[in-house]
Amino acid sequence: MELPFAESWRIKMVEPIKKSTREEREQWMKEADYNLFQLRSEQVYIDCLTDSGTGAMSDRQWAAVMMGDESYAGSTSFFHLKETINKITGFEYVIPTHQGRAAENVLFSHLVKAGSIVPGNSHFDTTKGHIESRKATALDCTIDEAKDTQLEIPFKGNVDPKKLEKALAEHHENVPFIIVTITNNTAGGQPVSMQNLREVRAIADKYGKRVVLDSARFAENAYFIKTREEGYADKTIKEIALEMFSLADGMTMSAKKDGIVNMGGFIATRHEDWYEGAKRFCIPFEGYLTYGGMNGRDMEALAVGLDENTEFDNLETRIHQVEFLAGLLDEYGIPYQRPVGGHAIFVDADKVLTKVPKEEFPAQTLAIELYLEAGVRGCEIGYILADRDPVTRENRFGGLDLLRLCIARRVYTDNHMRVIAAALKNVFDRRNEITRGVEIVWETELMRHFTVKLKKLF
Ligand code: F0G
Repeated sequence: MELPFAESWRIKMVEPIKKSTREEREQWMKEADYNLFQLRSEQVYIDCLTDSGTGAMSDRQWAAVMMGDESYAGSTSFFHLKETINKITGFEYVIPTHQGRAAENVLFSHLVKAGSIVPGNSHFDTTKGHIESRKATALDCTIDEAKDTQLEIPFKGNVDPKKLEKALAEHHENVPFIIVTITNNTAGGQPVSMQNLREVRAIADKYGKRVVLDSARFAENAYFIKTREEGYADKTIKEIALEMFSLADGMTMSAKKDGIVNMGGFIATRHEDWYEGAKRFCIPFEGYLTYGGMNGRDMEALAVGLDENTEFDNLETRIHQVEFLAGLLDEYGIPYQRPVGGHAIFVDADKVLTKVPKEEFPAQTLAIELYLEAGVRGCEIGYILADRDPVTRENRFGGLDLLRLCIARRVYTDNHMRVIAAALKNVFDRRNEITRGVEIVWETELMRHFTVKLKKLF
């Protein structure tokens, strides 16, 4: 008999989680203005809000925490981290930051000016925010196929080379760099192929431009290259990662994802001029160059996390769990962005709550319904997150309206996946009775989804 698949780790420490009643959840949801970010975590049974900073560190990482050197300058822990990053990415210069958006802030302060145009593949909201707040434009060049949630192609996160070529032909004098997000979070945790990274490199070279990888989930991207792209099956994740980074000039990193730490980030680059430019902003925004917003102990844990999570077994365990949940949704006929990506299921809310008009935010409505059903907290990656057009101030309804269910790394078991799937099925079964959504009563100009206040119309 073939042995079943099982995790590549065992559990050494547990954290109790609490169930609640529907009545309690209705009250809490109302108090939170129907914004799931406003809930207290103890009001949540299974938390799928994000895979960012929510992973479980390993015994080796916790042991490394004890070795943290908290010296203000020249910390040994910084050099441990830098050496690991040098080895995994091939980038020589490293600037630690307190998280991914801080890396964006520091690097973009040097590179992005009013009127700049930054082409990329579905820029993440903080990335877009840091571009737009500088009166610059984030130009989305993702392949059109990414918008068809039911289409199964292996690298749905790719940049469309034709769109990128056109963007550069028209705007090259205003383009400070191209940014490629691996994996493409907003399009559903979808990977970018090595072939596509090569195409981006060729176009960048043609116009003399540099390429930044937004690398929050670079290890998951490498896993998909290994398992889906011809020629990579026999390469290690570390070899694939090195090849991916060899096609770029620098990276911004939210270490809270594939670094498996609770807080942290960095910039890395092969170019001294970028390093010198970014340095000037690191010191006032983040801190001195050998800590940049991170504790010594966290830099130690990150060095170990990066090493562990660029090993195949760890990634296989993780992706297997996400695929297990996707398999249950397949059984129940619930539509999501296919094939399932690396860190989350993105339920296609437009296709589930077909009676809720887009002006009433179907994905947010589905997120609320799922929470009320079972205390499972997901996150809207849709029309609310898309913010308003900076010029017309109209809501942007052009993209997808998804309910993202993130799976934290090494945290929940497959039984929790069964609960999530069953709760979603219960909502799905009464989808035709859900005809109204929510209305915005208060919002901020940028990144409104964190603090938006909503009124329930059902
Ligand atoms: N880039 C990508 C692709 C991300 O997914 C995120 C964060 C960031 C940059 C910013 O990093 O949070 O460390 O400042 N994504 C989280 C999420 C918040 O839930 O997807 P950060």
